[in-house]
Parts: sequence; structure tokens; C-alpha cells
Amino acid sequence: MSKDRRNRGWYGMLDKDGFIRRSWMKNQGFPDHAFDGRPVIGICNTWSELTPCNSGLRELAEGVKRGVWEAGGFPVEFPVMSLGETQMKPTAMLFRNLLSMDVEESIRAYGIDGVVLLGGCDKTTPGQLMGAASVDLPSIVVSAGPMLNGKWKGRDLGSGTDVRKFAMDVKAGDMTLKDFMATESGMSRSKGVCMTMGTASTVSSLSEAMGLSLPMNGSLPAVDARRMALAHMTGKRIVEMVEEDLKLSDVLTKESFENAILANAALGGSTNAVVHLLALAGRVGIDLTMDDFEIGGEIPLLVNCMPSGKYLMEDFCYAGGVPVVLKELAHKLRSANTVMGKDITHYYEDAECYNRDVIFAYDEPRKPAAGLRVLRGNLAPKGAIVKPSAASDHLLEHEGKAYVFETIEELKANIDRDDLPVDENSILVLKNCGPKGYPGMPEVGDMPVPAKLVKKGVRDIVRVSDARMSGTAFGTVVLHVAPEATAGGPLALVQTGDRIKLSASQGVLELLVDQAELEQRRANWTAPEPHYTRGYAKLYVDHVLQADQGADLDFLVGKDTRPVTRESH
Ligand code: FES
Ligand code: MG
Repeated sequence: MSKDRRNRGWYGMLDKDGFIRRSWMKNQGFPDHAFDGRPVIGICNTWSELTPCNSGLRELAEGVKRGVWEAGGFPVEFPVMSLGETQMKPTAMLFRNLLSMDVEESIRAYGIDGVVLLGGCDKTTPGQLMGAASVDLPSIVVSAGPMLNGKWKGRDLGSGTDVRKFAMDVKAGDMTLKDFMATESGMSRSKGVCMTMGTASTVSSLSEAMGLSLPMNGSLPAVDARRMALAHMTGKRIVEMVEEDLKLSDVLTKESFENAILANAALGGSTNAVVHLLALAGRVGIDLTMDDFEIGGEIPLLVNCMPSGKYLMEDFCYAGGVPVVLKELAHKLRSANTVMGKDITHYYEDAECYNRDVIFAYDEPRKPAAGLRVLRGNLAPKGAIVKPSAASDHLLEHEGKAYVFETIEELKANIDRDDLPVDENSILVLKNCGPKGYPGMPEVGDMPVPAKLVKKGVRDIVRVSDARMSGTAFGTVVLHVAPEATAGGPLALVQTGDRIKLSASQGVLELLVDQAELEQRRANWTAPEPHYTRGYAKLYVDHVLQADQGADLDFLVGKDTRPVTRESH
């Protein structure tokens, strides 16, 4: 036994318990020396055929294993719940916290010294990081990587973003249904995650900006051989991290979260980064609040990728990827440790930009001051957000009359009615789609633009809700209104015809109705009945925190790093 590592408590004993654990592991053909005290590296895999975005993770796990063996470690791959964003109802977000529990308890219960998190699709990496952070072993991220650019009739297609655009074109009569269906196969033509700057590519890019992965983890395409090499190098590195006792909490600091916020602004990254970063910070006990996101507000948009621009992740990779963005942000970035055991500067010192139409320079940005804006006011006392880079400039300062949908069903049944009493100045309001409401805070905040307006050529309208939206979505969409309607937030009191004021520049979201009237309405308000009364969904609804606290479960906040001492037999 070389070192007093954690795995010694599982594999180091010359008694019945040690025998049992080693002996049963040996039925897989592992030799004696696998149990000689070398670092045992868990490979936490969210591969699943029901999570198509993560379908490449089996091969990447093999790459990680090569690196672990090479560095003298013992790799052991284990599955955890996988969350297929496009496949799960009512929303994968309902299960992010469940995945985090699976990850946390798996890491804690098994005799591993360090862990490689293999994720990709939107909720997988955040759920894995949250779970890992609550155990706090040395941990490192390898992401699935984006799909190759979509292709159809000689043009590029972006995951999510283009299907939304095409759906509007079909509504407007500008695209045939036949063409719409034909784009389906061209949009997803290789393994990997959405190749727009959606939530998955945002999170893998932010993993890099926070120093939680090796450089280039954000953008290398899923099928690029260099991603396999990155997995191999990550396997080598995690063994060293165990030897250095470089834990997740040594990398996850207030500074690394601030770097994520700055990078997210420059990337035109997903609004979902807000809930995931808040929840992750809660696990490691870092005081991160909605106010901290304001440092992103002044940061210019540098990356010209959908949905905030026109290119895709392959182009971003070939232009130099996240290291170039970090280099442009160098004067803003905080000094922060990384999984390399070196400062984040090490990730971008040698970066070079190969295409300035894809990654713009800080001094000549694609859009000035385009980071997410935190909004407050009597309609969102605990905050709301809007993403200016994917919005229409003329709507970011707007006052208009609300048209209210009490539920998602009401919206779906009525949004395309020819007599819907709305015009381009209306503000659509959707209630009861927050964490408790749907439940799970689904991606329905980017309500469809009503058909009667689309036919008139309107492509954007102000929308306000307690929901999220996909990272691939766009529009002047106010999201994450907290507290949510179902929890009795002021959003619950809005009525059709009320005036609402949005000012992204001033960070304001106001319901222009006087206080006495609102109190009257509150007296008549009753909470909607919950959809679920048993099982995990009940646990979720009973314990979920609001969006401004990352929609984690209240009892999962924090960590427990105590050793597990009790034996199983
Ligand atoms: Fe899985 Fe976009 S749906 S990454
Ligand atoms: Mg999504």
C-alpha cells in the first residue's frame, strides 16, 4: 500500500471486507496490482441511447481509461442517470437535482479517489458537477463535444435555433412543410451535443473558463480525434490530481464563478448558465447571487455563434475556441486555480485567433455590453433575466399591455388564434412554469410569436415568464421571474391589460399597477394544485428553491466530506 488514499478503506484491508470487495472486482479480470493502493479513478458516465447528445461518451470513457492506466491509476467506469434534453417529459430540468443525488451518492459510496465526469447534454454536466461538489474529491470534466455543423441544401443548420426559425417560416408561409421535414436529418448528422452555443456548449465552454476541464474541452467536435486525445490526457491528469490532492473546492472559487459569468457574456452563452452556476455555488458554499451576474452586463459579445450570431461550434473550434475568448477577456478575468494546478492564464497564453468573423476582438466586439441582464422590480422582487445578445434591440426598452396565459395549456390552445387580441407592442405573460409550477422550470419561456403577428412579418415580441428557455432560443424574452407564480410571486397577480415596463439598460421589470389593487388581487389568489403527489416529483416540488437560488433542492445545498466508515457487511 503506497499511500493512505481514500480507496484504502475499500481495497486496502486484509480482512473479510477487503477480500469481498477485491474478489468480486476480480471477476472482471482486474489483476492484483490494480488494488495495490494506486489511485482509483471513477469515470462517471451519462452515456445513454435516450440521451443522443451523449452517445459518444462510451468511446471517450475508453480514452480516459488509457490515460488513467498510463499514469498508474486504476479506472472504473460507472453509469449514472442520464438526462436526454430532447427526449424527457415534462422537462429534463426536473431531474437535474436527481442526477446530482445519484452522482453524489455513487461517488461517496464507492472506493474511488478521484472522478472524471463525462457529460454533455444540457443538464448532465451541471447535475454531475453539483453532485461531485457535494463530495469534493479531485474531479475533472470531459464533455461530449458538439455535433458537426448541420447541413442542408448547401447551407449550415444550427441545432435548436434553426428549427425555431423554420417553424416560424412555416407559420408565415415562407417555408414548405416538405422542406421543414427535410431539414430534420441534416440538422443532426453526427454524434454530439447541439452545435449552436446552446446550454450544452455553454456549459462545456464554461467548464473550460472555470478551469474544470482541460483547454479546448468546450469546442472540439464530438467526432474530432483530438477530443479522444483530450479524454486520454484528462485520464492522465486526474491521476496526478489525486496525487496532488487537488479537490473540486480548490478550483471552484468565487473567482472561477466570476470568470464563468464574464466568459458567458462574451460567448453569448445560455441563460441556463445562471441557474446552474447558482446551484453549483450553493453546493460548495460560495456566496454567489443574482447580483454577481451584473459584472457580465458590460462585457461585449465576442463570439458570433447561434443563437446570438451566425456561426456554429465547429467554426468556433477552428477559430481557436474558448482560449481565444479568454485571451480577449484577459484584462477582466480573475486569477483562479484550475484542474491543471496552474492559474487560468495558462489556458490562453498561447491562444491565437484564426477567424475574426467568428471570434471578435474585445476592442472591436460584435455587440457592446451584451451580457445577461438581471432585472428587478415589483414584478420580480428576487430577480429575472434577459439576454440582450439574442434579443431585439428595439424591444429591450419597452412598455406595453400584458396578455396573460395562466397555464401552458391555455397558451398552446390560443397562441395561434386569428382573433388573439395582441399586436407587436403587447407583452405576452406566461404563469405557472417555474420550478414548482410545471414542475421543473421547463424551457417554454420563449413562447411562440402568435401566428397572426408572424404573418404580418413580426418575428419578436416581449415575453415574460417564470420559465427558462433553451440555450438555442432567441428573442426578447424575460425569464426566471422569481418568486414564481405558483409560489405566489407577483407574477401570479398580472392580468390581461395591465401595463408592464421592461428596461434592460436600467435592469427594471415593473408591473404598472398600484399597490392597493395588487393587494386586492392577492387576497383572491389561491395556489394551483400540484401535478404530482408522490415520488421524486413530490419531493422536488416540496423542496425546490426558487430560480434566484439555482432551483436546487433545499436539503442538497452544501456538502458532506466526512469519510464513510460503516461497512456493508
Ligand atoms: Fe442535448 Fe442540445 S439537446 S445538447
Ligand atoms: Mg435545453
